[in-house]
Amino acid sequence: MQLSIRLPIYDPSKAPEDELNATWEMWDIVRSVCDYNPRLTLTLDLTPPLPTTLGVLSKWTAEPVQHIFLPASTFIANTKGYPVLPKGTQSFVRQSMAHRPIIIMSDVRSGTHSKGGESAYSQYIRHLEKSSPVVQAALKAGTVENFAQGYQDYLQAPLQPLMDNLQSITYQTFERDPVKYRNYEEAIYNALVEWPASDRIVICVAGAGRGPLVARSLLAIQRSRRPAFVYAVEKNPNAFVTLQNRQEMEWGSGVQLIYGDMRSIEIPEQADILVSELLGSFGDNELSPECLDGAMRFLKADGISIPCSYTAHLAPLQSSKLFNETRMNKDPSKSAETPYVVMFQNVDILSADGGGLGGRCGPQTQECWEFEHPRKDGVVDDRGLPITNSHNTRSAKLTFHIPHAGVLHGLAGYFEAVLYKGVGLSIHPQHKDRVSKDMLSWFPLFFPFKDPLYLPSNSELQVSIWRLTNERQVWYEWYAESFLPVFSAPLPGGEDHKTPTSSHDPFFASTTTHVAVPSPLIDAVDSSFSPVSGGEEGRKEDEGVREKACAGAVKIGQTLLHNPGGRSSWIGL
Ligand SMILES: C[S@@+](CC[C@H](N)C(=O)[O-])C[C@H]1O[C@@H](n2cnc3c(N)ncnc32)[C@H](O)[C@@H]1O
Repeated sequence: MQLSIRLPIYDPSKAPEDELNATWEMWDIVRSVCDYNPRLTLTLDLTPPLPTTLGVLSKWTAEPVQHIFLPASTFIANTKGYPVLPKGTQSFVRQSMAHRPIIIMSDVRSGTHSKGGESAYSQYIRHLEKSSPVVQAALKAGTVENFAQGYQDYLQAPLQPLMDNLQSITYQTFERDPVKYRNYEEAIYNALVEWPASDRIVICVAGAGRGPLVARSLLAIQRSRRPAFVYAVEKNPNAFVTLQNRQEMEWGSGVQLIYGDMRSIEIPEQADILVSELLGSFGDNELSPECLDGAMRFLKADGISIPCSYTAHLAPLQSSKLFNETRMNKDPSKSAETPYVVMFQNVDILSADGGGLGGRCGPQTQECWEFEHPRKDGVVDDRGLPITNSHNTRSAKLTFHIPHAGVLHGLAGYFEAVLYKGVGLSIHPQHKDRVSKDMLSWFPLFFPFKDPLYLPSNSELQVSIWRLTNERQVWYEWYAESFLPVFSAPLPGGEDHKTPTSSHDPFFASTTTHVAVPSPLIDAVDSSFSPVSGGEEGRKEDEGVREKACAGAVKIGQTLLHNPGGRSSWIGL
């Protein structure tokens, strides 16, 4: 049996613009009481006019919306009298088409509109489906949406290219990405043309796979007209056979192959340019830092590494689908402590740029840490290898502003890499189209949480994450805490009230403050979209008043520490 609950996006009878969360809160209670049963779905009733607050609409994308209910009364008449939807509803329905909902229409025979009759409503909905940007992107060859079909919200264990030997089919999938290799070629070309004139430039491709970066290095050499020689290092015996074949058939004497692990082999001469692609969805999660520590022995003191740096980024997310997928695994406690590669679809990012107590929250997606190559602070033994791996540990504490109530189910992980100077790779949601549009090789990483954490409107979320290591493994540990800002009521006579509590101490609200906590059910208003905000001026004024009145924050919840000691997931060195 399947049960679908019909709910309006908000309740117009008691909901002014700032209580738009009420029906979502109701849904959250019902599904939590039912323990997120996957047979319980939502029918979203679009009878009331849609609110203009974007965050209120986007949160429904993270819910199991199976049906959309559209009565004839929601339609307006166009200039010719045919039924069409108001602009906001149009774009919401177009966006929702990504989830393939069943559209239920009612009262279409009632003659509400003078033209078109009953069939005009369904024809119009079909037109919205066809013109939906998500549906169009899925049909267009070369887009990520097209490439990822069938993989949306599917949990994949990340690759371990160091510990395991990748299969030929996996290399074949990598090689379908034109953007990644184009950017590598550009970076190598730029490095070559800027290289001081010398007799011979030595390039080393570390982790050559079946050879796409060797081929791109040769193209860059040809274009730059610089005399250069390529060494290709690979430890996977199956991929090495393909390299041998290609050398014989395509590359000839301009390339020398070296079989073995870059952390232990020697190469005949040091390189000027070290090219590698050992990156995972979170940058360092396929152990690029550890492998390149070994390969740095091959690089001359003034040599360059492509990539020269990469960063890991996080954003908090809500997704009942991913929460359930994690729990359905055969060992749910392990599975909830394992990062997965996921092409996100039924997901809502809960954070917004800035905001929070005294404006101390960072952007919607925040940087955790960076790795640079060659490393500036290297202490190495007499073979040129690091003595321990402790320099590759990292930690971050990030504070996010949560404007609209939601439930934290996990963290979205992304990476960015600088290949050389202005050329890079990025899956960061706000930068990827500028840096490497339509790059297919990496989907984001999903760090799950075992239990959902409710976050009220206008709350703050603090995420702590570590990259840790021992002699054999690298792993991540993560947890989150939630806080609610409290506000001091103005003292009689309009005097500014100073609280003894530091606004940077999130744990304590002042006991002496007249605390007036706004209802967590009252939603933040996106001033740029809401007619009630009074525009930019009004927003600045509101923020000023808020900052003055803000007394501190009370802690309202926290998750468990996930994956302590790498007990459930780790990457083998
Ligand atoms: C992500 S794949 C990229 C392969 C290729 N460059 C491409 O773009 O298709 C990384 C490659 O590095 C190899 N690799 C990983 N760690 C290595 C190590 N320590 N020594 C040598 N090769 C390594 C893997 O076997 C794999 O072929």
